[in-house]
Amino acid sequence: MCHTLQLYVNFQKKPMVTATAKTDTSKLVFYQDLNRQLAGLLDGERDFIANAANMSALIFNFLPDLNWAGFYLMRADELVLGPFQGKPACVRIAVHPIPRGVCGSSAFYRKTYLVPNVHEFEGHIACDSASNAEIVLPIIVNGRVVGVLDIDSPTLNRFNHEDQIGLETMVTTFIEMTTIL
Ligand code: SME
Repeated sequence: MCHTLQLYVNFQKKPMVTATAKTDTSKLVFYQDLNRQLAGLLDGERDFIANAANMSALIFNFLPDLNWAGFYLMRADELVLGPFQGKPACVRIAVHPIPRGVCGSSAFYRKTYLVPNVHEFEGHIACDSASNAEIVLPIIVNGRVVGVLDIDSPTLNRFNHEDQIGLETMVTTFIEMTTIL
């Protein structure tokens, strides 16, 4: 079966952009397209909050089957909620000295966490009871963890290696096109 998600966004002073996700085509091709959309969206703007807000909106609206997508930002020893799309979420997540949840672990161990079933992840923080799978990517700039990108889905096993590669590429685009404070 072929599901098609089409979304049209009209930005002031920017051309209309479109993206199409077909579950029967390669995810890598889809992410290449989404990454191009991201680069177009961030072009000409380097503000961190604006770019993080637009990136979370792009991911939430274009990637199928999500219930939450957004940023947590490193503040001293903890992550603090940043721009996101989805239901209201927990605000502070400890990273040091003991990391909490998937987000805290990603920031502490500086690696992507791909969690097929959040109910089997010890210490998972359930902000939205609809979440069943999660992927969290650290945002590392000049060797410093400045935050994480957190994406949740109601579907078990929603994320795989292709999602990880595609989303890591998008995080790289975000870092290159954004002024990190
Ligand atoms: N589940 C995350 C918390 C953040 S919410 O999913 C938005 C965690 O375990 O760190």
